[in-house]
Amino acid sequence: MTADDLPALVALDEVCFGSEAWSTVSWAAEFDRLSEDRVILVADEGAIVGYVVLLVPPVALDVVELLRIAVAPAGRRTGIGGQLMTAALSKCSGRTVLLEVAAGNESADGLYRAFGFEEISRRRGYYAGGEDAVIMRWRETV
Ligand SMILES: CC(C)(COP(=O)(O)OP(=O)(O)OC[C@H]1O[C@@H](n2cnc3c(N)ncnc32)[C@H](O)[C@@H]1OP(=O)(O)O)[C@@H](O)C(=O)NCCC(=O)NCCS
Repeated sequence: MTADDLPALVALDEVCFGSEAWSTVSWAAEFDRLSEDRVILVADEGAIVGYVVLLVPPVALDVVELLRIAVAPAGRRTGIGGQLMTAALSKCSGRTVLLEVAAGNESADGLYRAFGFEEISRRRGYYAGGEDAVIMRWRETV
């Protein structure tokens, strides 16, 4: 992807996350870190229909964080999220990946579990409204 994709990503993020969407400034900051520790992958079907953002520290022992993954509502349950996850995890060979997800986010929970993520911890009442944050971990199995 290139900086030209930025407006499309911002627009898709808004559709997927509403008031929790990252701003243009936040997305630009993610782009600025591509040479440092960010990996951004997009699903492109003529237009961008999904994306995943990873924080991949250069030190191999440090954990990778899956910061965000989303698919346009009209494209869900067609395998795009799974393709993004496969591509993302292929960048994480030998690493541990952590993520945080709202306890009630069934689609994300289903996707993560389908790819071998396991719950390792919870932050009780972490989100506004009192929902728990679930911390999940993936490790490459050989
Ligand atoms: C989570 C999300 C990215 C999944 O994308 P998707 O393209 O619909 O996922 P896929 O079609 O590739 O599904 C892959 C697997 O994930 C699981 N899954 C996906 N949606 C699910 C749902 N609603 N309920 C339960 N499991 C689900 C299933 O195991 C599915 O495999 P299957 O279709 O063979 O049963 C999508 O629902 C989304 O964008 N949600 C809003 C954004 C979000 O909450 N992101 C996570 C927090 S950053």
